[in-house]
Amino acid sequence: MLIKKPDDIKSSEITPEHVYRNRRQFMKDSSHFILGAAATGLGAAALAQNGDALKARAPASLQRSAPAPWWEQKFANIKPAPDSEPYFTGETLTPYRDVTNYNNFYEFGMDKSDPSRRSGEYKVDPWSIEVTGEAGKPGTYHLEDILKPLDLEERVYRLRCVEAWSMVVPWIGFSLGDMLKRFEPTSNAKYVEFETMVDPETMPGVTSRFAIVDWPYREGLRIDEAMNPLAFIAVGLYGSYLPAQNGAPLRLVVPWKYGFKSIKSIVRINFRETQPDTTWVDLQANEYGFYANVNPNVHHPRWRQDMERRLPQTLFSRQYIETRLFNGYAEQVAHMYDGMDLSVHY
Ligand code: MTE
Repeated sequence: MLIKKPDDIKSSEITPEHVYRNRRQFMKDSSHFILGAAATGLGAAALAQNGDALKARAPASLQRSAPAPWWEQKFANIKPAPDSEPYFTGETLTPYRDVTNYNNFYEFGMDKSDPSRRSGEYKVDPWSIEVTGEAGKPGTYHLEDILKPLDLEERVYRLRCVEAWSMVVPWIGFSLGDMLKRFEPTSNAKYVEFETMVDPETMPGVTSRFAIVDWPYREGLRIDEAMNPLAFIAVGLYGSYLPAQNGAPLRLVVPWKYGFKSIKSIVRINFRETQPDTTWVDLQANEYGFYANVNPNVHHPRWRQDMERRLPQTLFSRQYIETRLFNGYAEQVAHMYDGMDLSVHY
């Protein structure tokens, strides 16, 4: 995000070549999830038995295998997204192939295709999360124990990147607040900070001499933002397990903020009294703010923020649409910023 001007972006990055090459295959695949699970011959019995009711399923041929057996049970019962905002949008879903091949995950490299191409060695089981700071129940938790009492649900959200592209993604997961409450944040917990896994063995971007990030990738939210019902932890998408490139095994999704707030592959949660330092603010504070609320009225030096390119796109058809304040979620979140000058607290 930091170092590329729009003019520098190669067309292969705008729509990776293999997305073009696979488009014919995709057309076949997409008819699968339109027709529903029955037509796909989903032998994957372990995956959502209620799959027909989900808004969308990954094409059977592309579904991930479970990271560990206990995941299968978890995914067997997913509450489908409702038919109305804010947990659903009537907009066309971004195809699975684009959601999983056009990614920002600098731990695997800086090209949009790097995360899917270079994450083959990455492992998500076993996975634990360290909970520290202003919490009644700090400790190191195995992911299975964190997920056990939480019911999975599907939510279809818009994702708007500060680079002015956007997607519509059917996530699987649970509300962030429901997870955080279990760690019993104290009254001093005004902010929550998150950190991403750093594994030089399996994340080639971490050791790259072109790396610009001071690892680990860090992000944070004000505690009321974290507890807003819209804030979500995704453990899957398109009815299937989260691919490495999208932040497996669990990542944040904050649909009213620019995508860089939605930190991937979380290994640490820290409750704190003061606003945390975050990766992009540290890198370039005049371009990236702590709040990072989607806002068409706040200028960015390199990307227009009043319009966005909705993926997928081809060289011949670029879908430009108007960007909405808080990415269209103002009704649910605007009250949290009453009295704040959003051009100062960008
Ligand atoms: N999290 C980590 N750890 N590393 C990253 O490079 N990129 C962010 C965010 N989370 C990033 C990250 C950015 S800039 C965006 S736009 C979203 O992830 C992209 O999510 P997606 O690849 O699933 O679309």
